[in-house]
Amino acid sequence: MTSRALITALCALIAAPVAAFAASKDVYFDVPYVATPPAVVEGMLKLAGVGPNDVVYDLGSGDGRIVIAAARDFKVKKGIGIDLDPELVTLATKNAQAAGVADRVSFTRGDIFKMDFKDATVLTLYLLPDVNVTLRPRILDLAPGTRVVSHAFNMGDWVPDGAGSIDMRRIYLWIVPAKVQGGWTATVGGVPYRLDLTQQYQNAGGKVKVGPKETAFEMGIVKSDVFTFTAAGPITFEGKVAGDTMTGTLTAGGRRTPLTLTRDAK
Ligand SMILES: C[S@@+](CC[C@H](N)C(=O)[O-])C[C@H]1O[C@@H](n2cnc3c(N)ncnc32)[C@H](O)[C@@H]1O
Repeated sequence: MTSRALITALCALIAAPVAAFAASKDVYFDVPYVATPPAVVEGMLKLAGVGPNDVVYDLGSGDGRIVIAAARDFKVKKGIGIDLDPELVTLATKNAQAAGVADRVSFTRGDIFKMDFKDATVLTLYLLPDVNVTLRPRILDLAPGTRVVSHAFNMGDWVPDGAGSIDMRRIYLWIVPAKVQGGWTATVGGVPYRLDLTQQYQNAGGKVKVGPKETAFEMGIVKSDVFTFTAAGPITFEGKVAGDTMTGTLTAGGRRTPLTLTRDAK
């Protein structure tokens, strides 16, 4: 390990929260309170591309600094913080009032594993790796395109879509991909088209069938609600996913065919 890598690892260790039992409050905290420095808060919100149309949730919101900065500096529509510690919820509420953003920001006492955050367009996290991984299935169920930024910790084998470093602290970005797994069919001019897709996070491979001809491909990409792949032929496809319908264009042998594909019933 280089000396720079060693210093980075030590800093991460010092800054890293470790799960704790707060005996005085008889509550188990999955992560203790450690605040994200202001420069890192700004970097996280910039990495997520936060703006006026966003609804930002900070899971484990501490003194409220992330959602308060989102409302004050990035003018988000709504900011919501959830924290198990009632004293931090009270402090965050006072901080929002002092920052003049109490009309768009609120803090709730609750357990992030039980609370609803389905309307988030941006999620911010400074938790722990195993906590992120436990939350991951719920995050993947959020609307395609929802951005997730995490200070310091990754999300298991879900590779980030973006990353950065601020004052030697790592930050990561994921964009929730649409769900494309399954079989999809369309018929155009009497020709049957079929996609059979297997998905892992933002990657999907499988087979494309045009009439009787089948071609396998591996490197399909799901970015937000858009699915693209290239297969031998060459065959290319770009489609927009809305639930069980995918609307796009398949180009094969230079011929472009608009397709509206329907997913097989489960
Ligand atoms: C590392 S701090 C992050 C605070 C803030 N997000 C920031 O970045 O400055 C983690 C926070 O999560 C809260 N927390 C821990 N377990 C929780 C749980 N199960 N549900 C809600 N909040 C929790 C803690 O009280 C603490 O405030």
